[in-house]
Amino acid sequence: MTEQTAEATPFWLTENFAPVHEEVTATDLKVTGTIPSALSGRLLRNGANPQSGWSDHWFLGNGMLHGVEIRDGKANWYRNRYVKTPFFLKPDADVMESLGDMNMSTANTNVIHHAGKIMALEEGHWPFVVDDQLETVGPNNYAGKLTGPMTAHPKTCAATGEMLAFAYSMMEPYLTYYRISASGELLQVEPITVGAGTMIHDFNITRNNVVFMDLPALWNLEGIADSGLPIVWDESYGARLGVMPRNGSDKDVTWYEINPCYVFHPLNAYEDGNKIILDVCRMEDAMKPGSEAPPMLYRWVIDQDKGTVSETQLDDRVVDFPRVCDTVVGLKNRYGYAAAFAPNLPVAAGLIKYDLDSSSSSYHDLKGGQGSEAVFVKDPAGSSEDDGWVLSYVYRPETNQSDVVIVDSRHFDQEPVATIHLPVRVPAGFHGNWVPDGY
Ligand SMILES: [Fe+2]
Repeated sequence: MTEQTAEATPFWLTENFAPVHEEVTATDLKVTGTIPSALSGRLLRNGANPQSGWSDHWFLGNGMLHGVEIRDGKANWYRNRYVKTPFFLKPDADVMESLGDMNMSTANTNVIHHAGKIMALEEGHWPFVVDDQLETVGPNNYAGKLTGPMTAHPKTCAATGEMLAFAYSMMEPYLTYYRISASGELLQVEPITVGAGTMIHDFNITRNNVVFMDLPALWNLEGIADSGLPIVWDESYGARLGVMPRNGSDKDVTWYEINPCYVFHPLNAYEDGNKIILDVCRMEDAMKPGSEAPPMLYRWVIDQDKGTVSETQLDDRVVDFPRVCDTVVGLKNRYGYAAAFAPNLPVAAGLIKYDLDSSSSSYHDLKGGQGSEAVFVKDPAGSSEDDGWVLSYVYRPETNQSDVVIVDSRHFDQEPVATIHLPVRVPAGFHGNWVPDGY
C-alpha cells in the first residue's frame, strides 16, 4: 500500500468510486412503478473494489459483482460478492508480478454468460466462473486449452452462439485469437502477427469476420510512472484494423491503416456487402500524459474492395459503455445505447439511445443520479429490435444509495417504468450483462 495524503486521493477512491467492504444480501427491496413481468433473470455488474481500500489505478482493484434478481414482476434480491480468485485470497500480491500466473485475476472488468456458465472476466488472466448467487466456483481454462489470458470483452455471435475472443500480451505472441463453440469448447487458438504488444481492450465481430484494433497504446513498464499502467502512447507505431475470417488464420488477416486513436469499446460491427461497418467510441489518444481525450461515437467503414477505411463522427457528446441488443451482436443493428458522461468523470449523467438508421437519438436524463452501463433486455414478445427495456445501476448522491432503473426503450426519454431501490450504494464500476433464467 502506498502512503497518500487526503489531497492526493485519486478519483477512483472517492465518492461513489470508493470501494464498499461489506458483502450484502438484501431480499426486501422497495420498488417504485411496475417491473415488466417478461423480465426473468438477473442484472449483473462487475467493478474494481480494492479490498485493501487502495489501488494504484482504477483498473486494478479486486473484482466485486453486484446483482439483482428479477422474476414475476418482483425484485427477489440484491447481493454483492467479491470474486474470490487466488489474487483476492492473497491481498499482499502485486498486481504486476501476478501477470504471468493465469489464476491471479482481479476478475474485475466484466461478467458474462456463455454455454451455461457465468464468468467474471479481466483481460490479463483466465475467466472465473461464478454461480447465479454470485459465489465463486473457480477458473475456466477451457479444459486446459486456454494457457494464456483472455479479454474481458469476448463477443457472442447472435446468429451461431459461438464466442469469439482474443488476448494481448507484452510478450510474443502479442495477440492471440480464440474461437469458442456455442457449447463452450475452445476450438481455435491462433497467434496473430502484429508489430508490438499493444493494449487491446475490446474487438469486433461480424457474421463472417473478426476485426482486431491494433492501436498505439504500447506495453512499456515506463508508463507506470505516468498513468499507473505499463502502457505508453506512441503514435509512431501507427494504427490499423485487422480483418480476419472467423475461421481463418494469421495469414488471412488484411490490415487497414487508420488515423491514430484509441478505442476502448465498440458499439457493434456488421457487414454490408464487401464493406464492414464499425461504430466505436473513439478517443484521440489514451494513456498520454496531460491528455484527457474524451470518447465520442464514430463510424468506420472498411471498404474491402478499395482497401480503404472512412471515418465519420456521429455525435459530439462524450459517450462510452456502448451496447446493442444481444440478438444483433455482429449483425446489422439499428439501435444502440450508451452512457452520456458527466463532465470529467466516467459516470453517466444520462443514457442515450441512438437510432443509427435515422441519425437521431433520445436522451434519458438521470436527474442528478449517476448511471452506469445501459444493458438492453429484449422483450421476448416484441418484434422490433428496440422492443425491450434498458436497465442500469444508478447512484443517488442525496441518499448515498443506488437504484436499478428499468426504462422502456420505446419511450426512452420518459420516466423509468420501474425503479428498484437498493439499501446500499453500488460503486461506479465497469461492465455487466443480463443473465436470463435458463442461461
Ligand atoms: Fe471495457
